[in-house]
Amino acid sequence: MCGIVGYIGSREAYPIIINGLKRLEYRGYDSAGFVLNYPEGLEMVKTKGKVVDLEDKAQGVKLHANIGVGHTRWATHGVPNDINSHPHMSNNGNLVIVHNGIIENYEAIKIKLYSEGYVFHSETDTEVLVNLIEYFKEKENLNLTDAVRYALTEVIGAFAIAVMDSQNTDEIVVGRLGSPLAIGIGEDEFFIASDASPFVEFTKDAIYLEDGEMATIKRGEKVKVRKIVDNKEVHPSIHELQLDLEQIEKGGYEHFMLKEINEQPKSIHDTMRGRLLPDEGIIKMAGIWDHMERFKKAKRIIIVACGTSWHAGLVGEYLIEELARIPVEVEYASEFRYRNPIINKNDIVIAISQSGETADTLAALKLAKEKGAFIYGICNVVGSSIARITDAGSYTHAGPEIGVASTKAFTAQLTILTLIALKLGKHKGNLSNERFMSLCYELSTIPSKVEKALNTNDIVKKISEIYKDAENALYLGRGYNFPTALEGALKLKEISYIHAEGYPAAEMKHGPIALIDENMPVFVIAINKGHYEKVVSNIQEIKSRSGQIIAVVTEGDKQVRDLADHVIEIPECSEEFSPILASIPLQLLSYHVAVMRGCNVDQPRNLAKSVTVE
Ligand code: AGP
Repeated sequence: MCGIVGYIGSREAYPIIINGLKRLEYRGYDSAGFVLNYPEGLEMVKTKGKVVDLEDKAQGVKLHANIGVGHTRWATHGVPNDINSHPHMSNNGNLVIVHNGIIENYEAIKIKLYSEGYVFHSETDTEVLVNLIEYFKEKENLNLTDAVRYALTEVIGAFAIAVMDSQNTDEIVVGRLGSPLAIGIGEDEFFIASDASPFVEFTKDAIYLEDGEMATIKRGEKVKVRKIVDNKEVHPSIHELQLDLEQIEKGGYEHFMLKEINEQPKSIHDTMRGRLLPDEGIIKMAGIWDHMERFKKAKRIIIVACGTSWHAGLVGEYLIEELARIPVEVEYASEFRYRNPIINKNDIVIAISQSGETADTLAALKLAKEKGAFIYGICNVVGSSIARITDAGSYTHAGPEIGVASTKAFTAQLTILTLIALKLGKHKGNLSNERFMSLCYELSTIPSKVEKALNTNDIVKKISEIYKDAENALYLGRGYNFPTALEGALKLKEISYIHAEGYPAAEMKHGPIALIDENMPVFVIAINKGHYEKVVSNIQEIKSRSGQIIAVVTEGDKQVRDLADHVIEIPECSEEFSPILASIPLQLLSYHVAVMRGCNVDQPRNLAKSVTVE
């Protein structure tokens, strides 16, 4: 996610833009920039770093224009640096653009523009788009609105853009598909932003562009909205904003964690965007494909990570060993780095890290690199330290995760690991084409199944009310959902401070069952796949000792329903995908219990979002 801001009116644009960017930093914060439009030309300042760094860099720059656009970046293409930061300018220096989204077909467009003599200075997809707009404007002699429209009809991907022409200080053209864009309607002024937070104190009237719409915003005229595909005029309604600033930043949710839990259908979709092509039976992952021979020859894959990312690695072990038949070991990075591990040159070490900055994981990777292993990264932050030292990698594209408790990053990690396991399985010949196609198709339906799993919120909230005062809790799962049990326990303990432990369900008889009594809630993942009958037996053992059973089951389950005190139904799916779906109610449970206990959900005590020290 990135944040875009724009202004056209009678006020000074700079303070509105810079303050607006600060309010949008939760959407991305690795680089920032703005451009002001004057009759004598454009004044652009941009930098790697946060908006405060941009303010420093703008000292002494001419800042008295009343039209401009700004951007705070969450990198998807091109590492965070000055050149890749937005705005981007077209070759002839007239057009500037800010963009939130991903242009999937930017390479093909770039090749076409190269052949027309265009040059590129950044690694971004956005610079390609602004030059495509210039191409249409110059070659077809179009006005800015039509040039933008023509260009957007060629684009595949997601975008919210704002474009200005140095030849015209009275107009900004915007468009959206898949990324949000709001237009604030003032007396004789207009505001543009990814959400209303940058302009909520100036006006409560806003137009929200729908997907596939664009608008021409001209000084002194009504906003003209049209369909990108056929130029048909649209007459959008003007909404009166009800939310306050803080609510807008959280998308109307009470906490960032709840917003991020609910973003998971989109974040999982974005993680698969441009990678999973189920109809063609293709998984595109350059990081894997470019090193396929190495992966096929690998004697072992070692996954190093911490916390939730370590739980994702455990699921990855089940996925890769089952689908690709490559031995996998999952290591706590903090242990791995100090135990003088044996690493062979045919080993592949995969680091999983949302932040890409976790000190133990970074150190474990550096050790593996020193010992000659090929190292691969699965990170959520583009250009992070771990991403920069790996030989190859895959970004999770989950967008900024603000809540300390990892939720959407975890399911995005699982999605990447699933894609990797499927791709390796197919190319190693372990997966029949039929099974590969079937799993690829089912994976493409997971975002909608996550949407359904989110509908368990109300029943989960009722269950949370019952168990919010528990002093201990157990989480049990088998197979793929043993790691899910560990993750559910971590979520509960780290934000509600209830002591919770996760175990393989079969481990109960080796000690933990001594803990069972009427005060012990036991959360069991009991989907109708894997060793279902054995999980049912474990539930019966617990019931016979007065344990309280809350079971996550496959919708329609009857057997567990008769045994458990509460059941939470999730959609039917293959075992390989069940950790993604089963995690959703467990995330919601930890959230609601923490809120009911009055805990600071987004910033739990003693914790940091990124543990950059040992
Ligand atoms: C998970 O909810 C925690 N915030 C924590 O365990 C986290 O997963 C761990 O610190 C690893 O962080 P990383 O993914 O950024 O490396």
